[in-house]
Amino acid sequence: MSSADRIPTGIDGLDAMIEGGLIRGDMHLLAGAPGTGKTILASTFAYNAVTLQKERVIYASFEESAEYLQRNMKKLGIDLSAAEKAGNLRVIDLDALKGKELESNIQLLISAVKETKSTILVIDSLTALLLATESKFELRAFMKTVYKTLKNQGVTTLMTISQTPGMGFGIEGFVADSVMLLENVVEKDQFKTRLMILKMRGTEHSKRFHTVSFAPKMSVSKY
Ligand SMILES: Nc1ncnc2c1ncn2[C@@H]1O[C@H](COP(=O)(O)OP(=O)(O)OP(=O)(O)O)[C@@H](O)[C@H]1O
Ligand SMILES: [Mg+2]
Repeated sequence: MSSADRIPTGIDGLDAMIEGGLIRGDMHLLAGAPGTGKTILASTFAYNAVTLQKERVIYASFEESAEYLQRNMKKLGIDLSAAEKAGNLRVIDLDALKGKELESNIQLLISAVKETKSTILVIDSLTALLLATESKFELRAFMKTVYKTLKNQGVTTLMTISQTPGMGFGIEGFVADSVMLLENVVEKDQFKTRLMILKMRGTEHSKRFHTVSFAPKMSVSKY
């Protein structure tokens, strides 16, 4: 596989765990409990892809408003609004999608991807997007539509999901091409954040836990 078939995350330590990056056109899942860094990882990936790899990215934020997200990420050196102004990133927040059926939300995101000729779609989070319409049928339909439509177009998808520690995965875990897990674990009197790649099709990936640091910028190192 040539390196053009993978998109580096640009996160120190992570690319070395996954043969250089995320496979282009695949559907990647990033799972973790609240506060484990899903939004930071997803934003860092989106920002690095736009600024370092010249990719075009749609970032659909369902948990934080675009403004709140931009403010929080800026503290970590991730200047999403500058990337938006430069034209290769579009942040879509819940307001644009509120009150609509799941199907029209999917269509809106797919249209935005097409219209902007984006190569990457980030959904943060799938859990929040599905909260209003959480029937199993819809999740299945959602996964199918996103998987088929975007994969056919070679669009790389990264979706975050909120996961209760110890709970398994539903259909999303089987459908996704890769699953990365973030966890907070208590050690002595403080918690540490760690990352493990649970699955990544076509990739000889690390099978260990790695330690995650967020500041001054996100990085992953030996556990
Ligand atoms: N500027 C910062 N410096 C250091 N650590 C930070 C900074 N900002 C956030 N963090 C750490 O990252 C955590 C939040 O990360 P993030 O918002 O990405 O989590 P999340 O998994 O998306 O959570 P949620 O499920 O609530 O959306 C904070 O709880 C904090 O521990
Ligand atoms: Mg988040």
